[in-house]
Amino acid sequence: MYKFLIRPLLFLMDPENAHNLVLNFFSKAGFLMPFVNFLYSPKKNEPFFFNDLTFRNKIGLSAGFDKNAVALRLWDAIGFSHAEIGTVTPLPQSGNPKPRIFRLKKDRALINRLGFNNKGADEICQNISKSKNYLSSDFIIGVNIGKNKDTPMENAFYDYKLCFEKLFDVADYFTLNISSPNTADLRTLHENEQLSELLGEIQDLNKDISHRKNKKLKTVFLKISPDINKEAASIIYDNVKKHNIDGIIATNTTVTRKGLSSGIDEHGGLSGKPLKFKSDEILSIFNELKNKDRSDAKPILIGCGGIFNTEDMKAKIKNGASLVQIYTGMIYEGPGFIKKLLN
Ligand SMILES: Cc1cc2nc3c(=O)[nH]c(=O)nc-3n(C[C@H](O)[C@H](O)[C@H](O)COP(=O)(O)O)c2cc1C
Repeated sequence: MYKFLIRPLLFLMDPENAHNLVLNFFSKAGFLMPFVNFLYSPKKNEPFFFNDLTFRNKIGLSAGFDKNAVALRLWDAIGFSHAEIGTVTPLPQSGNPKPRIFRLKKDRALINRLGFNNKGADEICQNISKSKNYLSSDFIIGVNIGKNKDTPMENAFYDYKLCFEKLFDVADYFTLNISSPNTADLRTLHENEQLSELLGEIQDLNKDISHRKNKKLKTVFLKISPDINKEAASIIYDNVKKHNIDGIIATNTTVTRKGLSSGIDEHGGLSGKPLKFKSDEILSIFNELKNKDRSDAKPILIGCGGIFNTEDMKAKIKNGASLVQIYTGMIYEGPGFIKKLLN
């Protein structure tokens, strides 16, 4: 039904309007969830245990799909083990001028330059809290955090810390997003000194809050760009180890445009099928670094980018991913996609 009826109708609309229409509808359609769950819930899968978290399967919703945590019940009902909310910034912000999402249908891809449009840490915290009572007890909520556009890069870590502190109680894990191409200079946080400062500051705060609240340390992932070389990957890996970061999400969108056939070239990050090769390549570089690492405590890898079928997912797992995340594949394949992959 999605491919033959709903998708053609949605694809007549502007991509962002279509996206908001669907999210708005499901944010108010809690009463439909048992039915959605009946239609789309997958078979029981082998869980993945990590720190104090139990992922009921390997597939999560990637950040950016539900920036403001308005449709958590839907992600739970269609079978994801986790949904990553955000990117959340301390203050609300409207993002870049529209239009800012573009469909590349022939390439099964999207280009976006949203620029962290979101309702800000306080409102998103409330949205998550309100949803919690309605979610399965094993549904995991990740919170992906970033910086406001107007915060100078030298103060970026303050913004990450503010979000971390405000959302600590509602997040099962955090992701530090240093890889959006749509916030000026954000990707400079991949460089050795800046990265070390950010990770150190966050983990100090993590220890401080968990000590104060008498709770376990929060699991922290780092989401990286696909547009890096081996040397940069090695610097990132060393910093992740040095600061006991729990995992690496590889990857965010790319600013490269290799092999596109749509003839659409807008400024922004490219996701979907054409990203798969690059994100797999980066994942395998981190897998190699992990294999060479003789220590006990190694970060897990989370594969993200261009998953459209079981083979794509298996390739990520073969390249060392313990979990995978999906965004663009859901737009093209619809809500039954997760059940199909998991079954
Ligand atoms: C419209 C759109 C918005 C996105 N927003 C975010 C975001 O706010 N934070 C983030 O970390 N990633 C964001 N992403 C990147 C996705 O989470 C994902 O890393 C990327 O799209 C690759 O996965 P895919 O090929 O399955 O889409 C966004 C992607 C798209 C298409």
